[in-house]
Amino acid sequence: MCSYPKKCYTGMNVVSQKVKVTILCENKAPGFGLIPEYGLSMVLEKGERRIIFDTGSGSSNSIIVNADLLGIDLGSLEAAILSHGHQDHTGGMENLLQKNSPLPVYAHPDIFNNYLYVQGRGPVYVGPPWTEEHLQKLGAQFHFSQEPVKLDEGLVITGQVPRGVEFEEQEPVFLRKTSGGFVQDQIYDDQSLVVESPKGTVVLLGCTHAGLINTLRYVTQLTRKNDIYAVIGGTHLMNASEDRLFRTLKALAEFNIEVMAPCHCTGYGATVAIQRQYGDKFRDCQVGSVFEFG
Ligand SMILES: [Fe+2]
Ligand SMILES: [Fe+2]
Repeated sequence: MCSYPKKCYTGMNVVSQKVKVTILCENKAPGFGLIPEYGLSMVLEKGERRIIFDTGSGSSNSIIVNADLLGIDLGSLEAAILSHGHQDHTGGMENLLQKNSPLPVYAHPDIFNNYLYVQGRGPVYVGPPWTEEHLQKLGAQFHFSQEPVKLDEGLVITGQVPRGVEFEEQEPVFLRKTSGGFVQDQIYDDQSLVVESPKGTVVLLGCTHAGLINTLRYVTQLTRKNDIYAVIGGTHLMNASEDRLFRTLKALAEFNIEVMAPCHCTGYGATVAIQRQYGDKFRDCQVGSVFEFG
């Protein structure tokens, strides 16, 4: 593992292996018995390595059913990575550990904090439905890090993403309860996964609460490359203002993205706008979608 943000990624020097990403849980499914579930989970295959990124909400056991139908053996995974603590990304952990235990789990140290979301009459809890101790008893071997974690050459978890893009402010709907009362939750635990493929850099996003542009700019710092080949996952633009969406789309042009597959918390309006901007570089992203690079 590496704990030095600017030194841990070897970028262009990586001998790239073919990369395959399969969507296991997403809000939408095309039928054929595949289960849609509000949440996100993907399986990354790179050479012999198999890693799950997020686990869905667990509310419909979607990762179990969908993995079966998609021919993915959850027992063969070597590790899980959690993008952040929200339930729609962590709730499937119990399901996963029933199929694969013990299992190394990589996450930011804040994931078990008290997540709240203001909905209707008052805040509701939207954090992990399991305690750390419960998951440990089931076999989760947690590796917490705020810094980037290098799992292999060309395979890096970003860790906490620096904020700085002025139009990517956190939404007031997210709160945390502290001893001093409710405070706005900046969701600092949000992180993404970066993997090198023969085509270029592939970025897997959870909810991107750190901001899409903040995240992608940090990825380019880690890889020391200006371009990002593919972006897959939730971009959390569902509540973005027209101004934020306009500025986000404009800033996205700096990365020369060739495969753009937003889903989950991107929202309908932003998805349409991204599709218009990216044309045939836009890809549908739902349960069963497969992305291969190499
Ligand atoms: Fe989230
Ligand atoms: Fe989410």
